[in-house]
Amino acid sequence: MSKNKNNKAIWGVRIKKATSSAFEKIGSSIDIDKRLYKEDIKVSKVHVEMLFKQKIISFKIKNKIIYGLEKIEKEIKNNKIHLTKKYEDIHMNIEKRLFEIIGDEAGYIHTARSRNDQVITDFKIWVKSSTEEICLKIDKIITSTLKLAEKNIYTIMPGFTHFKNAQAISFAHYLLAYIEMFNRDKRRFNNNLVSLNENPLGVAALSGTTFNINRNYTTKKLGFKKPTNNSIDTVSDRDFVLDYLYAISVCSMHISRIAEELIIWNSDAYNLIGLSDKIVTGSSIMPQKKNPDVLEYLRGKSGISYGNLFSMLTILKGLPLSYFKDLQDDKEIVFKANDTIKDCLIILDEFLKNFYPNKKQMLELANTGHITATDLADYLVKNYSMSFRKAYEKTSAIVNLAEKKKKNLSQLSLEELKIIEPKLTNKVLTVFDLKNSIKSKKSYGGTSFENIKRMIMKYKKQND
Ligand code: ARG
Repeated sequence: MSKNKNNKAIWGVRIKKATSSAFEKIGSSIDIDKRLYKEDIKVSKVHVEMLFKQKIISFKIKNKIIYGLEKIEKEIKNNKIHLTKKYEDIHMNIEKRLFEIIGDEAGYIHTARSRNDQVITDFKIWVKSSTEEICLKIDKIITSTLKLAEKNIYTIMPGFTHFKNAQAISFAHYLLAYIEMFNRDKRRFNNNLVSLNENPLGVAALSGTTFNINRNYTTKKLGFKKPTNNSIDTVSDRDFVLDYLYAISVCSMHISRIAEELIIWNSDAYNLIGLSDKIVTGSSIMPQKKNPDVLEYLRGKSGISYGNLFSMLTILKGLPLSYFKDLQDDKEIVFKANDTIKDCLIILDEFLKNFYPNKKQMLELANTGHITATDLADYLVKNYSMSFRKAYEKTSAIVNLAEKKKKNLSQLSLEELKIIEPKLTNKVLTVFDLKNSIKSKKSYGGTSFENIKRMIMKYKKQND
């Protein structure tokens, strides 16, 4: 068998010419998938252990291969290896280096496997640990949000619909809404673990293998829960990538909604929150400026996350089974998505630790816009056995009167209120108190101080 001097690739006997340098440049993925080196080596070690256990390779060869793989792992870690585009990707680079270290016996490593199952196995392990890291970062955000909420149970602000003052709420209740969003994000990421826990290793190129392999053994050793069922589907499937990118997209969307809201609250028009100098940026021309760039960064990054999801969906659209080179780009997309969301989560956590509510301004704003009108309507229903619609009409008339007199609801005298509803007594005046309003929202999930305290305890237990 004469090896081709020009083509040093594994397929050099069959393919006589070296790959065109133009194609090598774009077709190789080593610059991207070198991030999978640890997973690749782990998977290869378990693979050869299994081959030995099944009497497919000898003890001596298995040990030699493992020795070589461990040496390569150290070399890559210490940047002592030349990973080259010539060998396309991380899998071929490692195999090539194994030949250099242990000689021809390296040739046994690829028995009963293909890069097609190898790459997905590496990748699933990587995505699984990224998923766990992302969830830990979300936990940090939940902890920071909880701390802030605990300090602000009695901070009163207006709740908005259509950005018009709607009803009085506690700022803590608002913050706990973010926790619900992040808890759902975690659930979404964790749902993907069902797929991520299915072991692709052993399906080989697309049809399985003639060797008597043991997929249950590699499943256990690599921390999966079960082997995948169908070899063709296994090498074609990237649903776990889509689910991961979708979970990232939704999480980014949550972050961008929060960021947008905080940008508005920080604007001079609202001035509901202040930012520490640690997280603001200045202007090159306007000396007075303290800009919330950090929030704008967070708002913008959701665009990148959606882009990643749509890139992957588009790559998969219409792609026949099974492996095609198109799939190689999945890594670049996922790595980018991982880096972006992690940065966003770190930055959001920094933000949460470095901003404060302008309590006075929040209260002042809550005292405008007849924010206790619903409380008054509820009061009329409860005390004068009116239908809600009737009470709503009476309250509307009272709001009209207050507006005409250029007063807040709470500034109307009993006599004035009686013009609209003569049966009213002094007792009604308590409904205009914002604290009373919040206190009375006791229905499960409502903003009452008691509910908030209970929920804080619950989240704290969950996050312990
Ligand atoms: N670098 C390739 C990828 O990530 C590995 C799989 C190659 N398989 C093949 N049949 N060419 O997609």
